[in-house]
Amino acid sequence: MSLDHDDSLLPVSHKGALLQTDNLYQYILETSVYPTEPECLKELRELTYKLPWGVMLTPPEEAQFLSMLVKLMNVKNAMEIGVFTGHSLLATALALPHDGKILALDTNREYYELGLPIIQKAGVAHKIDFREGPALPVIDQMLQDGKYHGTLDFIFVDADKHNYINYHKRLIELVKVGGVIGYDNTLWGGSVAAPPDAPMKKHLREYRDVFLELNKVLAVDPRIEICQLPIGDGITLCRRIT
Ligand SMILES: C[S@@+](CC[C@H](N)C(=O)[O-])C[C@H]1O[C@@H](n2cnc3c(N)ncnc32)[C@H](O)[C@@H]1O
Repeated sequence: MSLDHDDSLLPVSHKGALLQTDNLYQYILETSVYPTEPECLKELRELTYKLPWGVMLTPPEEAQFLSMLVKLMNVKNAMEIGVFTGHSLLATALALPHDGKILALDTNREYYELGLPIIQKAGVAHKIDFREGPALPVIDQMLQDGKYHGTLDFIFVDADKHNYINYHKRLIELVKVGGVIGYDNTLWGGSVAAPPDAPMKKHLREYRDVFLELNKVLAVDPRIEICQLPIGDGITLCRRIT
């Protein structure tokens, strides 16, 4: 998408924000996402959209992508940073094998508990280890313990944007060689490609530099190969190679 001629594209929410038109986004949802969306994910999505912070939800086409990725990679041990009501968490948990595990970190248990009855009804709560609190200290503790190095197949990072580079420094130790870290929102509403003086909403302006820096760091990190996908608000997959 080019932002050269239409700055009005900048202040949009992250739901399908990177596609050229709302109609095209709607077409993808109606043709390829909604027809096979599990009922539990639909229920959780609809519940979440009604909340004041509903816009934080990982959009349905991205949840579908995460599910596909987890299955393609045969993920068994996963981690998620930024759970909210559990939409991406549920998509991942559904895709994991019966004995798969996901460590889910969020500072706010209340939102998670809104989604929890749906997760329980879906029969995947046993795969989830939810821990309330800031993610960085939990990760630091895991690194200190020493037994988690190189153990995770997949990590999805969708919280605490200004710490993404700090997460990366640590998560690269926890993900196994061949495993993947996915950083969400790396195109940040398209703002990363806008001129510095372009008009944009406050939240876009606030984190634009964070993502510009992160994208540069990831692109030259020799320990990973990356692929930045314009799904949702942009997700960068980092496959650990050394
Ligand atoms: C964008 S939402 C996550 C959306 C979620 N992945 C989904 O599928 O709907 C970001 C979440 O990160 C959480 N959060 C913010 N700072 C955090 C931190 N330092 N550690 C862990 N979670 C944090 C917030 O409470 C919020 O629920």
